[in-house]
Amino acid sequence: VTEVVSFSSVDAMDAAFAGHPAELVDAFGTTSPLAVHRWSADADAVDQALFVRSCHGTTLDVGCGPGRLTAALAARAVHAMGIDISAEAVRQTRGRGAAAIRGDVFAHVPGAGTWDHAILADGNVGIGGDPARLLGRVSELIRPDGTILVELAGPGTGVVQQIVQVRVGERLSVPFAWAHLGVDAIADVAVAAGLRVRHITSLAGRYAASLSQGVGSRAH
Ligand SMILES: C[S@@+](CC[C@H](N)C(=O)[O-])C[C@H]1O[C@@H](n2cnc3c(N)ncnc32)[C@H](O)[C@@H]1O
Repeated sequence: VTEVVSFSSVDAMDAAFAGHPAELVDAFGTTSPLAVHRWSADADAVDQALFVRSCHGTTLDVGCGPGRLTAALAARAVHAMGIDISAEAVRQTRGRGAAAIRGDVFAHVPGAGTWDHAILADGNVGIGGDPARLLGRVSELIRPDGTILVELAGPGTGVVQQIVQVRVGERLSVPFAWAHLGVDAIADVAVAAGLRVRHITSLAGRYAASLSQGVGSRAH
């Protein structure tokens, strides 16, 4: 009898954040290492310029990972909270002295509709595999005059929707949906999510857009 033990994407992220080498595997079998060392490091100068210094009010760090941005915001006395489905990510964020809760951005989020800012950093616009759906969900979490800061992939990326798995050692997670969104596609995706692009910043090869509620959104 073969026992099949399901290895969820959450279990895989927990193991990756706990220090086990991990890589992302796409449907073609192409692998790329997960940048856990970067997420576990402190926020760098580009993180500060693209995200931290743009947040002056309450800030929700969506998919905070080990919490480099949540902690950098807290260090500036910004009321920030990370949310992540990985218990290990939440544990490490709290270990940096920042606030974080374990949760799914698509489920109940404390303070929904009241956050001044929401951050989707370092590829997190890929959460759920449908950037317009994710941005629409995050727009429900911010105040009507709030902003979403979203990191984007480079020009020419467009919208890439894929099914991926995380490999940790010999173990492969169950497949889950992920996406990449390029700076070239943000205007159309923002409109589809009921948002508008306020401005785009490019620094050291990284791109981030600031989004706000579009005219006529929240009419319901
Ligand atoms: C790219 S990593 C985090 C990087 C982090 N934002 C940074 O810049 O250091 C993506 C994170 O999203 C989290 N995540 C994935 N799906 C999620 C969901 N539905 N709700 C909340 N967090 C999620 C993962 O557990 C993981 O920690």
